[in-house]
This record gives sequence, structure tokens and C-alpha cells, in this order.
Amino acid sequence: MSEALTRLIEGLNRDLNAELNTILRYIRHASVLKGLAGHEVRELLQKEVMDEVKHAMYLADKIVALGGTPRVEPQAPAEVFDWRDVLEDALRFEREAIAGYRERAAQAEAVGDVGLKATLEAFAEDETRHKDESERLLGGPAF
Ligand SMILES: [Fe+2]
Ligand SMILES: [Fe+2]
Repeated sequence: MSEALTRLIEGLNRDLNAELNTILRYIRHASVLKGLAGHEVRELLQKEVMDEVKHAMYLADKIVALGGTPRVEPQAPAEVFDWRDVLEDALRFEREAIAGYRERAAQAEAVGDVGLKATLEAFAEDETRHKDESERLLGGPAF
């Protein structure tokens, strides 16, 4: 296996774990939110978690297709209860996901996997929509 492919698989495993941690976080955070604003954030997380499940399943399958092994190392979500803390937490991870997929799409192109590159760019598009929705509920983009 080439060094570039090994690095790509390592990166895809990091992306996979980021998605798995986001799934755990969204399920946990959605469950504790109450009140009118909390309800809005809860509905957003419940909708977006379905995208993250699709991302995680694709990444695990792709790691195997490339000759790697999916590494599952989940982390416990932060113990937050306020809807603002939940959204700020979500926003930080969505931004990291966008940066990760951008880097990974370039690595996929470098090994000649245009299908993977296109899929990772579509994932970056999903995460950008998630980021924009979180910013909207927080009252606008934070510059
Ligand atoms: Fe995702
Ligand atoms: Fe997301």
C-alpha cells in the first residue's frame, strides 16, 4: 500500500470517529433540551443526525474498500444542558468536519479516487448546511 493511501485511510478513520462522536453527541444533547428554544435545537439535531449516520456508514465501508480497517474509538459527549452551549458545541465540530473533508477530498484526488473526492465534497456541503443552521439559531454567523 502506498504512503499516500495509508495516510488517506488514517484520515478517513479520523473522519469516521468524528462522525460517530457527533452521532453520540446529538442523541445525548437532543434528549436533554427543554423549553421553546430547546425544542427548536432538539429538532435540528434529530434531523441532522441522520446525515451523520449516512456519512459514518459510507466512511466505514470506504475504509474497508481501500484495504483498511475501521477503527471505532467513541468519546463521551460534553455534559451540557443549555441550548446555546449545545449549539456552540455543534458549531465547533461542524467547522472541524468541513475542514477535515476538504483536506480528505484533496488526498482522495491525489490517489486518483474521483468518486471518493466527489462524495467527500458532498459531505462538506452537508456539514456547511449544518453549520449555517446552527449559526442561524444562535442569531447569525460568528465572525
Ligand atoms: Fe457528518
Ligand atoms: Fe454535521
